[in-house]
Amino acid sequence: MVDGEPKIVGSDSLMAGRFSFPTPIIAPSILKCDYGDMRSEVERLDRANARWFHWDVMDGHFVPNLSYGAMVIKAIRPKTKAFFDAHLMISDPEKYLKDFLDAGCDAITIHIEAVPQPTQLLQKIRAAGRLAGLAINPKTPVSRIEPYLNNCDLVLTMSVEPGFGGQKFIPDVLEKVRQLKELTKGQALLSIDGGIAADTISVAAQAGCHVFVAGSAIFDEPDYTSALSKLEQLAEVPINSCGGN
Ligand code: DX5
Ligand code: ZN
Repeated sequence: MVDGEPKIVGSDSLMAGRFSFPTPIIAPSILKCDYGDMRSEVERLDRANARWFHWDVMDGHFVPNLSYGAMVIKAIRPKTKAFFDAHLMISDPEKYLKDFLDAGCDAITIHIEAVPQPTQLLQKIRAAGRLAGLAINPKTPVSRIEPYLNNCDLVLTMSVEPGFGGQKFIPDVLEKVRQLKELTKGQALLSIDGGIAADTISVAAQAGCHVFVAGSAIFDEPDYTSALSKLEQLAEVPINSCGGN
């Protein structure tokens, strides 16, 4: 066990490197926020006790959409103490790694479909004291990332085709989460992203997820505080249920 790797400490919290997370973790996907009023959005999320911000970085090449880059994340970094998780849906993450490290990202997740040999890049992210994440698209089998799991602090299972918020949850990916839970044995945070809402979060939790990215289910709601706490309650997996993390 290398120091800094995530490990489950008790049934409701996780340690990963210098980070400790009471689970479940609801991670608002900033992609759906009101960009015209980002300062207030950040304040609202802080008041709602959102401890983890999920930043969707899209390059219009790896995915058919363009979002924002490291400079936006860097501008928001001093405004909140929340944990920053950068989801890099870009074709060449290595080229921009330093920008995201300098922007103050605490976790950086790359896609196996963009980086077929991710070992070196994952090790670079870890060497910078951040959590190294690896993501798989809905059609990508777990076998594609299995050789690299020991370099991962976080594994992100996409439950929609990446590129847009507001899409329908793909339940078939839950079998991959169960496989990842078996393979990682609590040594990595299991994250799920896309279509997470009140009617999908519990099955994802039962499958073994720790981190639940939610865009529409938070930003389409008038009250972020109740939206977040409702999702948190639904993600609580009773210890005695077969799912228990
Ligand atoms: C999609 C992004 C997601 C998305 C989630 O490519 O990675 O984070 O914004 O939004 P919802 O929760 O609306 O599906
Ligand atoms: Zn995302």
